[in-house]
Amino acid sequence: MRPRFVDCHSHVVPSGDDGAKSHADGIDLCKLAARAGTEILYATPHVWPHLVLTEQRERVIRQAFEELRRDAPLELRLGFELTPAPPLLEEDPARYVLEGTRLVLVEVPFAGPADELWALAEHIETAGLVPLVAHPERTEVVRALPELAEELAERAWPLQVNSTSITGRHGPEAEALAWRFIEQGHAKIVASDGHRLTRPARLDDAYELVSARVGEEAALPLFDGSGLRTRDRRPLPSRAGARDA
Ligand SMILES: [Fe+2]
Repeated sequence: MRPRFVDCHSHVVPSGDDGAKSHADGIDLCKLAARAGTEILYATPHVWPHLVLTEQRERVIRQAFEELRRDAPLELRLGFELTPAPPLLEEDPARYVLEGTRLVLVEVPFAGPADELWALAEHIETAGLVPLVAHPERTEVVRALPELAEELAERAWPLQVNSTSITGRHGPEAEALAWRFIEQGHAKIVASDGHRLTRPARLDDAYELVSARVGEEAALPLFDGSGLRTRDRRPLPSRAGARDA
């Protein structure tokens, strides 16, 4: 029997970023995800230095999210994907937590050094939360120095690799690094980072490849939401409707 997947990274809610452009787009993406075996899907709109989460933008996103949650054929949860930037160090990271978890999704910048990533990850940790490091395998800094990602993982900051890196969509370098992090045990989660129908939110194809290489027993925890549970059992940050992942 095919497992049910938990996908903690996608852009299915229209939010002004480069993901879904409309409710209809979002529904199409959710339907495809459900058909591919995803049971719980996180919508994680980008928070970019040039597209921050103003109160106005947050209201619009939450409204769009509620409408999508109502109509989607799977369980939809909300989070955000942070691109490290100094203003985020002045904010309470609990605002951005993945619903029902202690994790805050933070991407490794595609270009440039990792200093701001370290600063933001430490800020999140100081707030009693855990940074979840998105797609390190796709970034210049980690391609130049893969040990950097391993250092992050050794801080108990889990690595999330993209399913599309495993399937080779982002080229041989990202593919090789994704496998390296999986085989070393540093990657804790595989997520789709799905943006649009040509780059959908699906995990089934990557799951087939990972289970063929490392076995189903080792593959499953990367796909079933196990990686979203953290050891810290303090109460979750207050958030309406938050549930355990
Ligand atoms: Fe993303």
